[in-house]
Amino acid sequence: MVHAATARAHTNIALIKYWGKKDAALRLPFTSSISMTLEKFYADTSFTLLPSTQESEFILDGEQVSASAAARVMTYVATLQQRHGVSGTFRIESHNHVPISAGLASSSSAFCALAAAFAAAYELDVDRTELSRMARLGSGSATRSVFGGFAKWERGHDDETSVTRPLDEHPSLDLSLTAVEVDTSPKAVPSTVGMRRTAETSPYYPVWVENTEKACGLMERAIAAQDFTRIGELAQQSALDMHALTMTARPGFTYFQPETLAAISTVEALNDAGVECYFTIDAGPNIKVLSRAENVEEIANRFRAHMPAVTLTTTSFGPGVEYLA
Ligand code: PMV
Repeated sequence: MVHAATARAHTNIALIKYWGKKDAALRLPFTSSISMTLEKFYADTSFTLLPSTQESEFILDGEQVSASAAARVMTYVATLQQRHGVSGTFRIESHNHVPISAGLASSSSAFCALAAAFAAAYELDVDRTELSRMARLGSGSATRSVFGGFAKWERGHDDETSVTRPLDEHPSLDLSLTAVEVDTSPKAVPSTVGMRRTAETSPYYPVWVENTEKACGLMERAIAAQDFTRIGELAQQSALDMHALTMTARPGFTYFQPETLAAISTVEALNDAGVECYFTIDAGPNIKVLSRAENVEEIANRFRAHMPAVTLTTTSFGPGVEYLA
């Protein structure tokens, strides 16, 4: 038995959003979703089996995580151990290269890297489809980080069928993403809580489900055609739909802050000036701008001029999960 393994998984940003589970325990979503895996944001996670005399521990960015804060991760590993018929105490050591809880889907890279390290440490014979199912049990968005480029999480109808498949792992499309961080403090409404409230109480939820399935079909076609404009338009609309939906929950809520609207206005101003770009927004106030590489500099300059306090990071397509050791 290999007793330790280290995996690197990159975060992904949903271009067609996932927002709501029909089965919370299995994390089965109401809709399919489509993502772009990002090069610059990732997690490196080691999973090491320990002698039975030692207790399990979780070390995040060099610091021991308290038992209560580590509960979700520990429960997740216990679930995987039970499913795969393995046992034992372990150490998880993770280094995150993503701002945590700031709407940059840090959980996607974290749980994907953990699932992969777990599988290798126990020498499980799992392919990437199976790995996408294992990652899904930790965090829905993590299932898509198994693959690079563009990926689609098929909603499926049960644990077997709700898995991710690659759409184009090595896109030649010229597509850059500029993350505009207006606020990196932890979000007030965690995505799990926000999506549950929305799915359970919004009278518009059935419309969201129907519309998102259609949007996935359109996005798949746009990706196959390498149509930058269509991809941008569909991604922006999905983000707006999701954020409009949270306001229709009972009680309604929003992840937007005043700076989010200022950033949206900046994207509009750029388009008015002939710089074609689009935005997407996850469960937080930060926006990500989709553009062609040649426009990245101008976009950054415009944001620096209009919103000097923001942090900007530009990236493009990242690879799927990989092993470092
Ligand atoms: O699976 P979670 O808890 O990371 O939720 C992801 C929710 C969104 O990022 C807003 C949308 C998505 O599809 O990633």
